[in-house]
Amino acid sequence: MKARDVVVVDGIRTAFGKAGEKGFFWNTRADDMAVRVIRELMRRNPKVKPEMVEENVWGATTQEGDQGLTLGRTSALLAGLADSCSGFSVDRMCAGGLTAVTTAASEVALGACDIAIAGGVEHMGHHPMGATASPNPRFLTDKLVSEDALVMGKTAENLHDLFPEITKEMADEYSLHCQLKTAKGYEDGKIQKMIVPMTVYTKEGWIVADRDQQPRPTTMEGLAGLKTPFRVQGNVTPGNASGLNDGASGVLLMSAEKAAELGIKPVMRLKGYAYAGVKPEIMGYGPIPATKKALKNTGLSIDDIGLIELNEAFAVQAIIFMKEFGLKFPTDERLNRLGGAIAFGHPLAASGPRLVIHLLNQFAERPDVRYGMTSMCVGLGQGATAIWENISH
Ligand SMILES: CC(C)(COP(=O)(O)OP(=O)(O)OC[C@H]1O[C@@H](n2cnc3c(N)ncnc32)[C@H](O)[C@@H]1OP(=O)(O)O)[C@@H](O)C(=O)NCCC(=O)NCCS
Repeated sequence: MKARDVVVVDGIRTAFGKAGEKGFFWNTRADDMAVRVIRELMRRNPKVKPEMVEENVWGATTQEGDQGLTLGRTSALLAGLADSCSGFSVDRMCAGGLTAVTTAASEVALGACDIAIAGGVEHMGHHPMGATASPNPRFLTDKLVSEDALVMGKTAENLHDLFPEITKEMADEYSLHCQLKTAKGYEDGKIQKMIVPMTVYTKEGWIVADRDQQPRPTTMEGLAGLKTPFRVQGNVTPGNASGLNDGASGVLLMSAEKAAELGIKPVMRLKGYAYAGVKPEIMGYGPIPATKKALKNTGLSIDDIGLIELNEAFAVQAIIFMKEFGLKFPTDERLNRLGGAIAFGHPLAASGPRLVIHLLNQFAERPDVRYGMTSMCVGLGQGATAIWENISH
C-alpha cells in the first residue's frame, strides 16, 4: 500500500481554564468542550459537509465519566456529524491528542478514510491526574521504577539533578520569557484567533471563556519567591511548571487529493513522526530521542526545522531540549514564538493538537519556513515528535 499525502486544513481550541472550582470550565462537561471544537471546525470549513467526515479520533488521559464512553464516537454524535462517522479514543497521557492526530493521519495516509477530525481534551478539574489509576504494585515492589516516576514534578527535579548546570534561575528565566511571549501574542491578537469562545456557567453566572486563565504578569523576583512543592529547596515551582488545566483542541485532516477535489488550500503536510521511550524517572528527556528518530525517519536535520512547538511540561525539560539541539537560551526565535504550556497551561491530551494549531497559524504567516516540528514529553517516560511541511513555502 502506498502512503498518501496527509494535510492539515484547520485547527481550533477552547480557551484553557484552571482546573478546579475556580476554573471557568468547572460546571462544563469535557465532551461538550470536544463538541464545541468539532462544531467550530465544521462551521469554519463549509466545503466539508458533516457527512464527509469519516473518522473522529480523540485523546483523553482519564477515559471515564464525561471523558468516557469512547469519546471519539460520542462527540461525533453530539456534534452532529453523520451516523456513518466512526470514532474512537486514544490515551498516551500528555501526547494523547498528538497520538490522535498521527493515528488519524495514518488512516488517511493508508486510504482507510479521506477526511478525519483529531483532537484531545482533558478536564483536569473533573479528572485530577492519576486520581483513579491503580498502578500495579510490582512497579515499586520489583523496583521497576522509583516512586518519583509517578509524580511528574519529581521527574523534573530529577532532570535538574542530571543536568546540574541547569539552575532554578535558568528555569525561571525561561519561564519569564514564556509568559512575556504569550502576553505579546495576546496583545497582537495572535492567540485569540486560535480560540473558539465558549459560553459557560460559573459562580459569577454565564460568562464567555475566550482567553486562557493561566497566563499572568510575571517577574524574576515573583518567580524566585515561589514554593517548591516537589522537593524541599528544590528547583521546580508553580511558576516554572505547566499547570493543572481544562481544555480541548482539534484539527481537520484530509488527504491532499481530497483537499484538491474540494478546492481547499491546506496549510501543512505531515512529513513524518516518531515516538520513543526513556526512563520513567526522567520522562522530560523524551522529546530528545523522539525528535532524533523523527528527523532520521524524514531524512532531515534540526537545521532544516524553522519553527518548533515544544510542550513545556516543565522549564527544565524544555531547556535540555534547547541544549541538545543547539537552540539559544533563554529564547530562540524558532521555539514557541507565542509562548508555551508554562503560560497557556497543559490540559494533558489537549496540548498536542494545541501545538499543531500554533504551528499551523505560524506557517500561514511564514512562507519562508519550510519545515516545523511539534514535540512533547509524556508521563512514564516517552517522547513524541511530528514534523510538518509548510505548503505555502
Ligand atoms: C506546580 C503545581 C503543583 C502548582 O499547583 P498550584 O499550587 O495549584 O498552582 P497555583 O497556580 O495556585 O500557583 C501557586 C502559587 O504560585 C503563584 N504563581 C504561579 N505562577 C506564578 C508566576 N508566573 N508569577 C508569580 N506567581 C506565580 C500563584 O499566584 C500562587 O500563589 P498563591 O499561593 O499566593 O495563590 C501544579 O501546577 C502542577 O502540578 N504542575 C505540573 C502539572 C503536571 O505535572 N503536568 C503533567 C506534566 S507531564
